[in-house]
Amino acid sequence: MTREEVLNSIKANVENGNLVKHMLATEAIMRVLAKRLGEDEEERGLTGLLHDIDMELTGGDMNAHSKLGADLARELGASETMAHAILTHNEAHDIPRETKLDKALFCADPLTGLIIAAALVRPDKKLAGVEAKSVRKRFKEKSFAAGANREQIALCSEVGLELDEFIELGLGAMKGIAEELGL
Ligand SMILES: [Fe+2]
Repeated sequence: MTREEVLNSIKANVENGNLVKHMLATEAIMRVLAKRLGEDEEERGLTGLLHDIDMELTGGDMNAHSKLGADLARELGASETMAHAILTHNEAHDIPRETKLDKALFCADPLTGLIIAAALVRPDKKLAGVEAKSVRKRFKEKSFAAGANREQIALCSEVGLELDEFIELGLGAMKGIAEELGL
């Protein structure tokens, strides 16, 4: 499975540009995490890129979301490890997250929203000027980007990262693709 094949499948299945950007941001964070933790960057990155591919196809039905996504990923040639991470990133199925990949995807997913929100409140709406310490401050403001689940982000501890480092790595990853994200 190549990145190009994954992008083509996303093009075929996802219309919402913001959703595509969310998946690209998740990919970027997953790649940086893999590098930091000495894991397979391509496997981790493509899992992040694919994880919400079924969001529009399932029409927001959380009982279907991520089950179809895992199947689509398998069809594209994803490993069972990748498919399991995609499946378990949706808590609605109540399937335990077991592998490091499961856990990494679960905490990386909501971090994208927190960081995007931290950029959008700036006058220039750009990621470039966002500092890790300001994201850390926003993390503590429960009403800020309330959809970005803080408990879930804090589960970075399960992959062996302190919250401060996780935020710094995630921010750096997203800055690296700022142009693609339009931020
Ligand atoms: Fe997501």
